[in-house]
Amino acid sequence: MNPRRRPPGAPLLLLVSLLTACGSASTACDGTSPVTWNGDAQPVISRACTGCHGATGAADGLRLTSAAQVRAARARVEASLANGSMPPRGAPALTQDERSQLASWLACGAPE
Ligand code: HEC
Repeated sequence: MNPRRRPPGAPLLLLVSLLTACGSASTACDGTSPVTWNGDAQPVISRACTGCHGATGAADGLRLTSAAQVRAARARVEASLANGSMPPRGAPALTQDERSQLASWLACGAPE
């Protein structure tokens, strides 16, 4: 057996992890690791976003204090995460893990 031969799924896995690592807008909902509002997205959004998009202020008319509110603005939120415009320069940044976690939560339809 040729030791350099890779399993057939390897190139696809590599592509998917590269896309995820780049926080790309094309992140797919892979369904393997459930990401929920309460367990995963809310703690991140409440730390990084609701200071400006929350109870005391709604920058650009956006409040991001519930899954439903984020869903309603899903395309804009996805775009702002993918192009790195949010959180803005000067505000506490998202880690790469948090960015891809939010991207896959959104790709999965932003479930509760
Ligand atoms: C320091 C304050 C601040 C923080 C923190 C912040 N935002 Fe914003 N956000 C703004 C302001 C101000 C605007 C409107 C002006 C602009 O687009 O820069 C805005 C606009 C937006 C828009 C609309 C942009 C568009 O082009 O449609 C989205 C979506 C958004 N923010 C999402 C987020 C998300 C998601 C987070 C957290 C990851 C976040 N914001 C964190 C201040 C903030």
